[in-house]
Amino acid sequence: MINRTDFPKNFVWGAATSSFQIEGATTTDGRGPSIWDTFAATPGKTHNGDTGEPGCDHYNRYNSDLDLMKELNLEAYRFSTAWSRVLPTGRGQVNEKGMGFYERLVDGLLTRGITPWLTLYHWDLPQALEDLGGWTARDTVHAFEEYTHVMSDRLGDRVKHWITHNEPWCTAYLGYQVGHFAPGVADLKKGIQASHHVLLSHGLSVPIIRENVKDASVGITLNLWPVHAAGDTSEDQMAAKRIDGFSNRWYLDPLYGRGYPQDTLDILGEHAPDIASGDLAKIAVQTDFIGVNYYMRHFVRHSDNADRGHIEFVKSDLERTDLDWEIYPEGLTELAVRLGSDYQAKAIYITENGSCYDDTMIDGQVNDEKRRKYLELHLEASSEAVRQGAPLQGYFAWSLMDNFEWAEGYSKRFGIVHVDFETQVRTIKSSGKFYQQFLKGDVLD
Ligand code: FCB
Repeated sequence: MINRTDFPKNFVWGAATSSFQIEGATTTDGRGPSIWDTFAATPGKTHNGDTGEPGCDHYNRYNSDLDLMKELNLEAYRFSTAWSRVLPTGRGQVNEKGMGFYERLVDGLLTRGITPWLTLYHWDLPQALEDLGGWTARDTVHAFEEYTHVMSDRLGDRVKHWITHNEPWCTAYLGYQVGHFAPGVADLKKGIQASHHVLLSHGLSVPIIRENVKDASVGITLNLWPVHAAGDTSEDQMAAKRIDGFSNRWYLDPLYGRGYPQDTLDILGEHAPDIASGDLAKIAVQTDFIGVNYYMRHFVRHSDNADRGHIEFVKSDLERTDLDWEIYPEGLTELAVRLGSDYQAKAIYITENGSCYDDTMIDGQVNDEKRRKYLELHLEASSEAVRQGAPLQGYFAWSLMDNFEWAEGYSKRFGIVHVDFETQVRTIKSSGKFYQQFLKGDVLD
């Protein structure tokens, strides 16, 4: 059984959420609409037409949620700020009521001895900016600089851990290339251009944070997958390399100063992004850490179908979660080791890891044994990464509580705490109790 003592003493332990998924209160205190409000209100875009209301009503219940974090023995909490709460149209005058919420949240964390880890962008772009082209428009990069300045100027005396973006691949690919997520645009060139702008906005905002927060630790969070070939022909290997290019190296290479991967640019051809001179140097700005959201691996082989880029995603015979995601804890170790050796990452934090299961409440208890096991296996994989020399320095469970799971609405649960969305009652699940005990340092066997 894995124990906390298997990890270095200063390893960071926490749980994560994001603004749109938990806050609710989408029209309260002057919050402006975001692309997720618009998208969710569009028929057919989310499961059951679910929207950001009620979320977990965290905007009103943050105090008791902070107590819950303390009860779980969390030492760090990763959350995101909603851009349109603070700057309702994305730029200009600060909405003091919205800012006040984040000030109270941060103060409440600090009072309880929990370290805030703030993510500036977890997908909820102000709709007013989308109306001007969203992430396909270069000017959004400058709006993001303004927003970064406002947040780091106001909270930098208390928040020292900053993440610019959460999962640029999802913003760009799911949001602008295939349109499964907000804003629902499906256009290859736009998706690729959006990815470049997101990375550029990261590069430009890091120095702003450093300027406003002298002792800041700054990074970006990527969703990464090990990509394995499901066959042993050279064509299968090439298929895996292509997917690794689009999903992993497209982001890692420019962030670590290598520019976009040539093999991926070659495939993109005329769809390659427009890059202004100096952009790549800005994207390659030094950071203090890389955040990794790890859920699963990709298993692919060559296909004769040219429409899908000659790629077939294959289902292995390993177990899968209720979102049909393969359970592959070794992938976490593999990624951490790769980031240390191939990219010389200084520090790595698992900023999200978790599993989706359809829980049942029996006599007031949620016995989510499968989620508990998933957590345990991934803690073991984290410890193994440290043992193999990867600079892994922390782990955040996704998620603190069940929430609005994007296009899946409230139908998919990831929390270590159960939320009844009708009554907003929170119940710590078995997985949460396991994590609570683990964090307490009890030796488990
Ligand atoms: C990640 C997202 C997070 C959550 C999990 C399940 O891609 O960052 O908000 O939806 O997946």
